[in-house]
Amino acid sequence: MSANYPAIRALDVGAQVDDYVIIEPIARGGYGVLYRAEHPLHGEVAFKAIYDAVSQTVEGQRRFFDEARLTGQVEHENIVSFIDCGTIDHPEALPGLYIVTELLSGVDLQTYVEQKGPLDMHSMLLVSRQLADALDAIHDAGFVHRDLKPENVFLDVDEHDVVRVKLLDFGLARPSSSDGRRRRRHTPAGVIVGTPEFMAPEQVLNGPSGAATDLYAFGLVIYYALAGVPPFRGGQQDVLVAQVKTTPPPLASRYGCAAVDAFIDKALSKWPSQRFRRAGELHEALAQALSQSKAAKSGR
Ligand SMILES: Nc1ncnc2c1ncn2[C@@H]1O[C@H](COP(=O)(O)OP(=O)(O)O)[C@@H](O)[C@H]1O
Ligand SMILES: [Mg+2]
Repeated sequence: MSANYPAIRALDVGAQVDDYVIIEPIARGGYGVLYRAEHPLHGEVAFKAIYDAVSQTVEGQRRFFDEARLTGQVEHENIVSFIDCGTIDHPEALPGLYIVTELLSGVDLQTYVEQKGPLDMHSMLLVSRQLADALDAIHDAGFVHRDLKPENVFLDVDEHDVVRVKLLDFGLARPSSSDGRRRRRHTPAGVIVGTPEFMAPEQVLNGPSGAATDLYAFGLVIYYALAGVPPFRGGQQDVLVAQVKTTPPPLASRYGCAAVDAFIDKALSKWPSQRFRRAGELHEALAQALSQSKAAKSGR
């Protein structure tokens, strides 16, 4: 969601919420502020306090409990691990909400590309392989993430400098179904749920979303990582229209070659049935296209 919710009451350093002691704020998302916190049993954790403007609405509460339930449901090495959730008492207002996950160290893919530029081929394939594994796991479990974008893809670095991809933020995740009516009930006409630059055409049109919706967003994430920018940019309305109608501009990155653009055309097909069927299949097609681009460049 693009709305910028203010944190009405920030948590102070040293504040205690249940058994968690707040150490410092580390990031801000569309729905909450993330803190590093300490727990006597779990050690250091990521503690996300949901903005009051979200947590104090029926829709915000529903989104929160869906996020907690779905984050806890799929255990996978490429999906952030759920630890806990609860409420933050306030003397003068309704309780706030918090969700606790394992603490990751590193940066999200959005920040990484902003700071370092497009990924090289080796890093691209590492990220896409692991992201594909995470997506296939949630699709096999019967869910759709619906908010796949570079800032929800974390590059976690361990003490040996090994990078592991962790998919974050299940706040928009839903059971997958070919029937869009249940989801539409929660999404009144005119309300945009998602980030325009990373939304599939069927999300823009408020239609049913399935695994294919995430696979389109996966294609957008790969495009972004290769090019350093998403294919469609500009005002929100223009981007939404482009997702539905416009062919992505050919990749003007160092990878640019016919095979890569053919891959992007399929990954970003406007018609869900014409896209890749599984995330693993999409990854394999990317690896093939990139190897052709490398062969083309070295004159073989
Ligand atoms: N477990 C974590 N450890 C470290 N940083 C995290 C963790 N989870 C999220 N982040 C950072 O915080 C940002 C916001 O978190 P996210 O769960 O996506 O919140 P929101 O639902 O508000 O978008 C992410 O883009 C990422 O940079
Ligand atoms: Mg997020």
